[in-house]
Amino acid sequence: MDDLARVRERLAIAKSVAVLTGAGVSAESGVPTFRGPQGLWRNFRPEELATPDAFERDPKLVWEWYDWRRGLIAPLKPNPGHYAIAEMEKRFPEFLLITQNVDGLHRVAGNAKMVELHGNIWHARCTAEGTVRENRDVPLKEIPPRCRCGALLRPHIVWFGESLEEDVLEKAVNSCKRCEVLIVAGTSSVVQPAASLAGIAREAGAFVVEVNPEETPLTPMADAYLQGASGLILPQLMMKENHG
Ligand code: OAD
Repeated sequence: MDDLARVRERLAIAKSVAVLTGAGVSAESGVPTFRGPQGLWRNFRPEELATPDAFERDPKLVWEWYDWRRGLIAPLKPNPGHYAIAEMEKRFPEFLLITQNVDGLHRVAGNAKMVELHGNIWHARCTAEGTVRENRDVPLKEIPPRCRCGALLRPHIVWFGESLEEDVLEKAVNSCKRCEVLIVAGTSSVVQPAASLAGIAREAGAFVVEVNPEETPLTPMADAYLQGASGLILPQLMMKENHG
């Protein structure tokens, strides 16, 4: 039996499923990934744009970069991979989507049971009050934008050197401990703590599936490796009739 058939068999009896996604799942929608040959980190230095120090040094530059990315993402639509994951949420009684993506496309596709590990590019947080508000302005009306209280707003994104929100991480870890199948799609599996979640799930007895055109550090420890684009593979996991 090939890996695709084995995964479909597992999913046919699963009650509890978790999905961990990364930038690769949005690649077919046109959102740039971070690491590959066309990745954002090829042309931009994260330490100048995605750290608390960078923001303190030059909030305008940081916001200009996010404004550019927001403009890029705004017209984009979910792809068949996103929709397959939204379908999973309906099908499995216990489900959690754990995403590293900040583009919001999973929500547009219909997922509600989800945690956004690295925040959301459409949310801004007050640097004084800590309050988080949605901001959909494209382009932003002022750069850097300010809160009603007068303090600077910052992107509600987890930057390098910052910790994930505790309750968000706890939800992700708990679902990895409970699920029967964990599907890890479109992530290079190098950024912590997200990269550790598959190990946590596996140790707790889950069947771990990786979906990615390229091998990653996770590949050797995955129970099944489905090589290919998530927009092609994930819908195949959700097809009702058995072609295997
Ligand atoms: P990366 O850019 O590191 O990795 C993208 C992965 O997607 C790679 O392994 C690609 O092989 C794979 N990929 C490309 N096209 C694909 C497709 N069509 N279908 C499936 N997979 C595909 O992105 P992440 O792993 O998400 O952090 O990066 C993790 C974090 O690093 C991001 O959340 C971001 C970044 O710094 C923050 O913004 C805080």
